Amino acid sequence: MMTIGVIDDDTTTRKMMGHILSQAGYSVETFANGRSFLEKIEKNPFDIVFLDLQLPDMGGLEILAHIKTIRMETEVIIVTGHGSIENAVKATKEGAFHYLSKPCRSHDLRLMAERAAEKIRLHRENTLLRSQVCKDSPLTGFIGNSKAMQAIFETIRKVSQVNCTILLEAETGTGKQLTARAIHELGSTKNAPFVYFNCGGFTEDLICSELFGHEKGAFTGASACKIGLFESAKGGTVLLDEIGEMPMSMQVKLLHVLQERQVLRVGGISPIDLDVRIIAATNKDLQQLIKAGMFREDLYYRLNVVTIRLPRLRERREDIPLLIYHFIAKANKAFSKDIKGISSQALDLLMHYSYPGNVRELENIIQHAAVLTEGQKLLPADLPFHLRKLNLQDSFTEELPPLDEVEKRYIFKVLSKTEHNLKAAGKILNIPRTTLWRKLKKYGLSDSADSDMT
Ligand SMILES: Nc1ncnc2c1ncn2[C@@H]1O[C@H](COP(=O)(O)OP(=O)(O)OP(=O)(O)O)[C@@H](O)[C@H]1O
Ligand SMILES: [Mg+2]
Repeated sequence: MMTIGVIDDDTTTRKMMGHILSQAGYSVETFANGRSFLEKIEKNPFDIVFLDLQLPDMGGLEILAHIKTIRMETEVIIVTGHGSIENAVKATKEGAFHYLSKPCRSHDLRLMAERAAEKIRLHRENTLLRSQVCKDSPLTGFIGNSKAMQAIFETIRKVSQVNCTILLEAETGTGKQLTARAIHELGSTKNAPFVYFNCGGFTEDLICSELFGHEKGAFTGASACKIGLFESAKGGTVLLDEIGEMPMSMQVKLLHVLQERQVLRVGGISPIDLDVRIIAATNKDLQQLIKAGMFREDLYYRLNVVTIRLPRLRERREDIPLLIYHFIAKANKAFSKDIKGISSQALDLLMHYSYPGNVRELENIIQHAAVLTEGQKLLPADLPFHLRKLNLQDSFTEELPPLDEVEKRYIFKVLSKTEHNLKAAGKILNIPRTTLWRKLKKYGLSDSADSDMT
């Protein structure tokens, strides 16, 4: 539970504020002067403080400075009477979160407390997540706290220590390439090359000459000797991506290389010892390709000495928040932004999406939102349209209300998801602000949006 301290020398205001905030679920303590408050926070600082600027014994700005030295993270909201707005503005420049003018409406008081609490929560989550991100991954930037991913990391650690062939079978965007890299970086291969080769879309001849190299004059146009990828990766790793796309005729040759642990340049006569780790990757089901006669069974068994199957993102949703924060940090760097986090409504949408494109798709979504957002927090309005649509479904599945009622509920929902930001709500609803305003009046929702109309 968030703790709140209220300092005000006016008894009625103090009691009223204490009452409203306790009712809203905070643990509140009130103080009539600066001294008693400062004594208290030496031992127990509050999460949020509502501070009256005009106190009999001390200046408000002085108290603000004390609060911030004791705990930087405490959010201070200045409560000020008419005529002292200038000082309140000055206070926000010196670290106060916001200010409220007296007399404050209970709605504003609660809203302000909630916003400060949200900021604190985000800050805490952020710190926590940042420390988790670096902790258990075999490589920084390879994220996953779920059991499934922790098991994958363990396998990666083990296989990186032996030179065996590895097959990565998983859907697109699940992190196959990242896994191959991690194995490479953790093993003795680390200081040697990591070579990537995509087996799809090439003829047998081309694949042969790329992988094995060729001697000078091996065929028309071979004017010089060429070193193949297997040779050039000496001591390192060759990732054969989309192995399921390799032509059948080429599969025999690869099988031979794996059996003999030797390669022969095209047109060459003396075989060269193979000194690489081979990792093959596919987003196809190789067993099915075997059944369909499109993949050699013997090659399959050569490749899958160890098979790693990466889970789909929708099978490990608990990793989604961690990944989001990781991608926000990446986007901040890439686009020179200062996004601090994500609103709970937007997070909710992202937690319930199916991600056919897995982690890559999530990364794209966050990039999209980071580019569009105008604030420091990603909101539902910043997400791509197909995600925003998700929250339409739940509210009227059982009953069949009249159209008016549906519109009213939907507008209300959009308003609460956008935290009563009329601009963002209008954007989602795709109606002008004046129309939205008229509808709010009609449905008696205008109170909740009052403060944002100015
Ligand atoms: N666990 C993860 N942590 C952080 N980033 C990840 C993770 N998994 C995937 N990514 C990111 O998602 C994107 C896709 O990952 P990667 O290229 O490794 O997937 P893939 O399985 O090889 O996909 P494809 O089959 O389409 O080639 C990359 O930008 C990668 O950095
Ligand atoms: Mg890939």
